[in-house]
Amino acid sequence: MIIAQITDLHLRTDGEKLKGMIDSVAALQTCLDHLGALRPRPDVILATGDLANRARVQDYATLRRMLESVGIPFYVIPGNHDERGLMRETFSDRDDFPKTGEFLHYAIEDHPLRLIGLDTKSGDRVGGEMCEIRLDWLRARLEERPHTPTLIFMHHPPFKTGIGFMDKDEFIGADAMEALIANHSQVEGIICGHLHRQITRRWAGTIISTAPSVAFQMVLDLAEAAPSGFVLEPPACPIFLWRPEMGLVGHMSLIGDFGPRHPFVSDSAK
Ligand SMILES: [Fe+2]
Ligand SMILES: [Fe+2]
Repeated sequence: MIIAQITDLHLRTDGEKLKGMIDSVAALQTCLDHLGALRPRPDVILATGDLANRARVQDYATLRRMLESVGIPFYVIPGNHDERGLMRETFSDRDDFPKTGEFLHYAIEDHPLRLIGLDTKSGDRVGGEMCEIRLDWLRARLEERPHTPTLIFMHHPPFKTGIGFMDKDEFIGADAMEALIANHSQVEGIICGHLHRQITRRWAGTIISTAPSVAFQMVLDLAEAAPSGFVLEPPACPIFLWRPEMGLVGHMSLIGDFGPRHPFVSDSAK
């Protein structure tokens, strides 16, 4: 099973450029063309939040149309920029989309690796949250299939990254979530967005990562008082390979034209 993650699309479909310089629709199309051309093709695409930049219904309609055109099953969860109501309006006719309850979280059972999408949006805050209701829901999901390998996808990373201007927005409920995950060894990994960079660490006895954005990247500055900023480093999308005998292996696929594949030649002098 091959899982592609796309994150932080920050779509603007009003004809204006994102931050005055980024064509977010074109960036998403380039990313989807890239994924569609991979061989073998991914089995699923997980879109881990900040799907729209200012969350208007036409942003989500465009997103759905573009994702459907790839022909790969996809699952979406909200980030801090998203609106649950508009996402429901756009996706709730799908059988697998959550129909009831406040939060847009769901478990996807029809793949070899069980997928659990979480909703970490916290009101109008930039930071994330796992409140008691969401922790109880996650606990129930993990307890119902304790021996099934599971990948969790969510928007906000529940750990400090060293990117100071992002870390200042607290993740509410991080310690409680960490204790819960530590009790469930079937969690093969947790993948997040929000940081617009690739970051990996051990957390709660599993591997947790964030991913580059489809549209723009946060500047890599690990000084504690570093000012906020973004850069136009190349976009990329993580590609996870799951095989029962191998476990979950994460690759990073840079999006861009880097020329053809060059075969190695047998003459070692070349
Ligand atoms: Fe974002
Ligand atoms: Fe975010």
